[in-house]
Amino acid sequence: MRIPSSFIILAVLIAGIFCEESTTNPSTTLPTDATTLSTESSTSQETTTARVTTSEPETTTAQTTIAPTTTLSPTTTTIGTTSTKAPTTTTTTTTTKTTTTTPAPVTSTKSPEPPVPDVGSWNVTDDNVTCIRADLRIRFDVYLNDKTEYIVLSPNASSSGDCSNVTQVLEIHESDYSLVLYFGKDATSTYVKNITFSYTMPDNSGFVYNDTKLFPVKIGNSYLCSTTSNVILRNVTMEVYHIRIQSFGTSENKDFGTAEECEADNKVNDIVPIAVGIALLALVVVVLIAYFVGRRRSRQKGYQSV
Ligand SMILES: *[C@@H]1O[C@H](CO)[C@@H](O)[C@H](O)[C@H]1NC(C)=O
Ligand SMILES: *[C@@H]1O[C@H](CO)[C@@H](O)[C@H](O)[C@H]1NC(C)=O
Ligand SMILES: *[C@@H]1O[C@H](CO)[C@@H](O)[C@H](O)[C@H]1NC(C)=O
Ligand SMILES: *[C@@H]1O[C@H](CO)[C@@H](O)[C@H](O)[C@H]1NC(C)=O
Ligand SMILES: *[C@@H]1O[C@H](CO)[C@@H](O)[C@H](O)[C@H]1NC(C)=O
Ligand SMILES: *[C@@H]1O[C@H](CO)[C@@H](O)[C@H](O)[C@H]1NC(C)=O
Ligand SMILES: *[C@@H]1O[C@H](CO)[C@@H](O)[C@H](O)[C@H]1NC(C)=O
Repeated sequence: MRIPSSFIILAVLIAGIFCEESTTNPSTTLPTDATTLSTESSTSQETTTARVTTSEPETTTAQTTIAPTTTLSPTTTTIGTTSTKAPTTTTTTTTTKTTTTTPAPVTSTKSPEPPVPDVGSWNVTDDNVTCIRADLRIRFDVYLNDKTEYIVLSPNASSSGDCSNVTQVLEIHESDYSLVLYFGKDATSTYVKNITFSYTMPDNSGFVYNDTKLFPVKIGNSYLCSTTSNVILRNVTMEVYHIRIQSFGTSENKDFGTAEECEADNKVNDIVPIAVGIALLALVVVVLIAYFVGRRRSRQKGYQSV
């Protein structure tokens, strides 16, 4: 198992060099692709949340490049079998080694787990017309002086709203918090124009908002994002795990309209086909190298026999 995995890593590395040398296909070169995307997002006007989340896929690609170095380490331990055999004669050194390896995972998992929200669905209906639909999975991180407290948007929270023709409102409330989304509309698009959040906790309460234009979509479409993104509401961070929203729905809309997926989602969806493509390319390169090396060897053998 170790040998094929290291082979694949080697193949990917070869493919990486191969791709850099011959820049025939720009989509295969991941670093340049990422930089162009980030510049695109910085030039695009309103999708501020998309801009926040684009940094995340870049870190995941960074992690995948780090990962091969850790998988390569088992091959170095197999080389150093003589060094691992040596400590078995001295039992004290092996026990100290095991104690030093066990604290490492403990330190990585020591941070207390913040609560994870569930998806809730809400809608605002007036005169048989559902003007607002929302599927939300949200957690609020409230920063206090010495700690962070979490408020999870409950799927059981009740809702109310307003289907007016200029500003539409979705209000989601629980006993100790209230989230209000104000929707606006222009000639071509609908969007969230204000988000307010008020909360009451035993030791703290507050009211925060952000009136930046967010989640714009074409009229009749819905905004969809499954890549976690943050919206800063003063000193509260709204962590959006999943969002699908639509406002200014008409009687024709029986369900969510066509989804316009956020840039971060599209980028995540691109990673798998790109990785598969690189792997296939690497395989082809390895096979070609093996073929030419094999042919040269057989030719050399042929000369020797002659
Ligand atoms: C609105 O929400 C309620 C409760 O979640 C649900 O039962 C109802 O089917 C929804 N209506 C529409 C038109 O989606
Ligand atoms: C709502 O729909 C029902 C059945 O489709 C209909 O009888 C009723 O008149 C409608 N109400 C309004 C205000 O349009
Ligand atoms: C958050 O900021 C508001 C004013 O901007 C302040 O009144 C409130 O105490 C702050 N809350 C915390 C938890 O720091
Ligand atoms: C929501 O309500 C259901 C039924 O009343 C209950 O089983 C569930 O635990 C509630 N969920 C939350 C997050 O309060
Ligand atoms: C909003 O609706 C009112 C009546 O309900 C109407 O008089 C007004 O022109 C509408 N405004 C727009 C911008 O459509
Ligand atoms: C957003 O809501 C807050 C709180 O209600 C309000 O103070 C602010 O003026 C609103 N912003 C806009 C652009 O309406
Ligand atoms: C509002 O949200 C945007 C996008 O997340 C952020 O850039 C901005 O700083 C926020 N404003 C406030 C006052 O929190």
